[in-house]
Amino acid sequence: MLSILLVHGPNLNLLGWREPAVYGTVGFDEINSRLQQVAEENGVQLRVFQSNSEGALVDAIQDARNWADGIVINPGAYSHYSYAMRDAIAAVKLPAIEVHLSNIHKREEFRHHTVLTPVCIGMICGLGWRSYLYGLQALIAVLQEERKPQ
Ligand code: DQA
Repeated sequence: MLSILLVHGPNLNLLGWREPAVYGTVGFDEINSRLQQVAEENGVQLRVFQSNSEGALVDAIQDARNWADGIVINPGAYSHYSYAMRDAIAAVKLPAIEVHLSNIHKREEFRHHTVLTPVCIGMICGLGWRSYLYGLQALIAVLQEERKPQ
């Protein structure tokens, strides 16, 4: 069975309530339960972790090397400057997909660059909660292909 860690960074626990014009009205718990359903339908174990603290996020990424096959991550504002999270992703060597609800390229200049993208296999942004959905589906497809006997 494939196992995936879904990581949400700071302020994403407020989804649904926080700046709905930017991030949409689908709540944090609702997004997680929609993703759980997709995971179940695909026979994948999905563990969800959210923290507002950089260190706790690094710990969760490090711990994933003991049990997960891949990571879907919305690092929130840490995307733009957390070398610690970037190094954690690089260290664990698990395939990771970075997701953002908003189109970070359409927003303030400081959001245009993310330091995590170079250590991820891909990045999806701008599709609201569906950025998570497509990120999860893409990761499942990549992991399933890796598992297939050649
Ligand atoms: C975000 C974009 C970040 O710039 C912002 O700090 C967030 C959310 C997104 O999902 O669009 O917290 O990661």
